[in-house]
Amino acid sequence: MTSVPAMQSGGATVSYPDRARSIEALTRGETDQVALMATLACEIHHADDRFDWTGFYRVTEPGLLKIGPYQGGHGCLVIPFDRGVCGACARTGEVQLVPDVDAFPGHIACASSTRSEIVLPVRNGAGELIAVLDIDSDRPDAFTEEDAKGLSAILSAVFGG
Ligand code: SME
Repeated sequence: MTSVPAMQSGGATVSYPDRARSIEALTRGETDQVALMATLACEIHHADDRFDWTGFYRVTEPGLLKIGPYQGGHGCLVIPFDRGVCGACARTGEVQLVPDVDAFPGHIACASSTRSEIVLPVRNGAGELIAVLDIDSDRPDAFTEEDAKGLSAILSAVFGG
């Protein structure tokens, strides 16, 4: 009898060094932010089955995020800095590692299936916040410090922050 592993939380199947190398090759010499975000959303989303929504929210004016390139179901278009996990990341400049979105005050549910989330700041070469990268998972407690480190390294290499 074949045992089917239960859906487990945590545990990367993505190799961040490998993914970083392929992203570097795909984006070498490119400076257009939309092109870079579209490429990263695709490459990161398809790197790991834990990632059910992967996308960017851009800083379009002080205190406001608007959706950018993403993979997955439709995402909400606008997020003020005082709302949601994305707003908390933009406000604080810190990675938000959320093992249970239902326990996060003010979480914005773009999909009712989302159980955990990671949101990372995206900075340019001048250190300015230009966007956040949001990844949702339908698995509880899906993200780890390894994800935070690996994703931060990719964002820094591509966007210069
Ligand atoms: N969950 C995010 C909103 C974006 S949708 O998940 C794509 C938040 O709480 O900011």
